[in-house]
Amino acid sequence: MLAGQPIIILKENVERNYGREAQRSNITAAKAIAGAVRTTLGPRGMDKMLVGSTGDIIITNDGATILKEIGVQHPGAKMVIEVAKTQDDQVGDGTTTSVVLVGALMEQAETLLEQGIHPTVISQGFRLGMEKALEIADSLALKVEPSDRKTLIRIVDTAITGKSIEAVKEKLDGIIVDAVMAVAEKADGKMVVDEDDVMVKKQRGQSMDDAELIRGIVIDKARVHEGMPRKVTKAKVALIATPLEITKTQVKAKIKISSADQVAAFNAQEQDALKQLADYIIESGANVVLCQKGIADPVQFHLAKAGVLAVEDVPESDMQNASKALSANIIQKAENLTSKDLGAAETVEQDHEIDIIRINGCKNPKAITILVRGSSDYLLDELERAVNDGKRVVMDAIEDGTYVVGGGAVETELLMKIKDYAASVGGRVQLALEAYANAFEVIPRTLAENSGYNPIDKLVDLKNAHANGKKNAGLNVYTGDIVDMHKEGVFEPLRSKRQSIQSATETAALLVRVDDMMITQNKKPAGTPPTPMA
Ligand SMILES: Nc1ncnc2c1ncn2[C@@H]1O[C@H](COP(=O)(O)OP(=O)(O)OP(=O)(O)O)[C@@H](O)[C@H]1O
Ligand SMILES: [Mg+2]
Repeated sequence: MLAGQPIIILKENVERNYGREAQRSNITAAKAIAGAVRTTLGPRGMDKMLVGSTGDIIITNDGATILKEIGVQHPGAKMVIEVAKTQDDQVGDGTTTSVVLVGALMEQAETLLEQGIHPTVISQGFRLGMEKALEIADSLALKVEPSDRKTLIRIVDTAITGKSIEAVKEKLDGIIVDAVMAVAEKADGKMVVDEDDVMVKKQRGQSMDDAELIRGIVIDKARVHEGMPRKVTKAKVALIATPLEITKTQVKAKIKISSADQVAAFNAQEQDALKQLADYIIESGANVVLCQKGIADPVQFHLAKAGVLAVEDVPESDMQNASKALSANIIQKAENLTSKDLGAAETVEQDHEIDIIRINGCKNPKAITILVRGSSDYLLDELERAVNDGKRVVMDAIEDGTYVVGGGAVETELLMKIKDYAASVGGRVQLALEAYANAFEVIPRTLAENSGYNPIDKLVDLKNAHANGKKNAGLNVYTGDIVDMHKEGVFEPLRSKRQSIQSATETAALLVRVDDMMITQNKKPAGTPPTPMA
């Protein structure tokens, strides 16, 4: 007889949550994560200050960055953070939107569960809703040509607004669009952009925040010797991976020197060897040399005398970029350098104020650098994130050729249209579909809240405008008016909306069906003797 005796199936260190408890746990986790980022949504959203375990500080408005930095343990919370990561990988923007959306969907699911609707019906309704939402988003999409600089600028501007970089925003808009337009190309009838073609370089320490587009690459170093030219035109660039010095021999050898003559001879020999190193470079026809390691003083002197501009200690990543941009070979030993290994550029020039070398007019025209300058590291990092977001949205828009308007216009349209659709479906799924539609309210509502307006009033006004056929009506976050977002020029790539709808829904539909969580704890089960100290 087994009655009354517990049967142990799971290991002692497995924590189990099931039924309503498991559902509640995932819903709470999703809502908590969404709650952590929702105040950053929109141009008037706030920033977060994150302090890492080592004391490093990040100030940001970027959803993906915030979620990457905060460590969570709950498996449901981890899945929500995964949504932000996917959004960031696929689109580069819209991470806050997608996470806030998962939170809202889980909140709707909670109400449905309380009404006794079965999780499979909820997830079925959500998936149906998603198909409809994608169809509606596609129907709202507008076309953009890869050469339409004006529209692309509005897309970048929307993505980088509100990231505490107001002073340089307008300038950045143009720079980012020009950079991506320069590297976009047509392949198999489709536009493609290789993200790596546009490099971003940060320069710290300038009092003014600024940005610059360089049609080429940048090395943040100065030339090694004052006697070298500051600018070289029709540059022939040698890339050397090893030190331009006399390296110590591997074998220890004793040299016996017994007279002053021998010392002189020995020195002379060394000097000759160093001059020889410089000569290898000069003879190859190079007038610029980038060396990954150090350059000995005598080599510097000989190079300077020959009018060669040399830079030492160039980081490996810059060497690789230079090799690609200039079509140059990276050479291990100077003695093996030939004219064929040299790269070509129109000019190589050291800046007059800051320690950077600009290499312009590279052989490969697709090497583009955006140089951002900032007065503090925090600002510089946020500038870099803004440039990366901006770069990605222009890429998305150019590759897909589509965009939609922002300011909550698309979400309001989705909300109303999906509700209409729900009415035509009927049954219990109808309830799930209606709840799905309601989740989209969260975007205009949060935009209004974060800008200091009454969310209920603004939602009513928005819904009225859309009911009257104003598909582009959205919230002007600066005046509180409901305006035509197309006239306002608030644009986002369609890819961003599609991705957030898709990943938020899929995750919510998945989480809602979980009614059993078995978590294996890493900690040792009780009763294990402590490990002896080493
Ligand atoms: N000028 C504007 N007026 C109204 N709404 C705007 C304006 N600019 C952007 N928005 C809206 O703000 C929202 C985007 O905000 P935000 O950039 O903070 O979040 P995200 O793009 O979802 O996430 P992240 O940028 O952190 O990856 C979008 O709904 C967008 O339409
Ligand atoms: Mg954004």
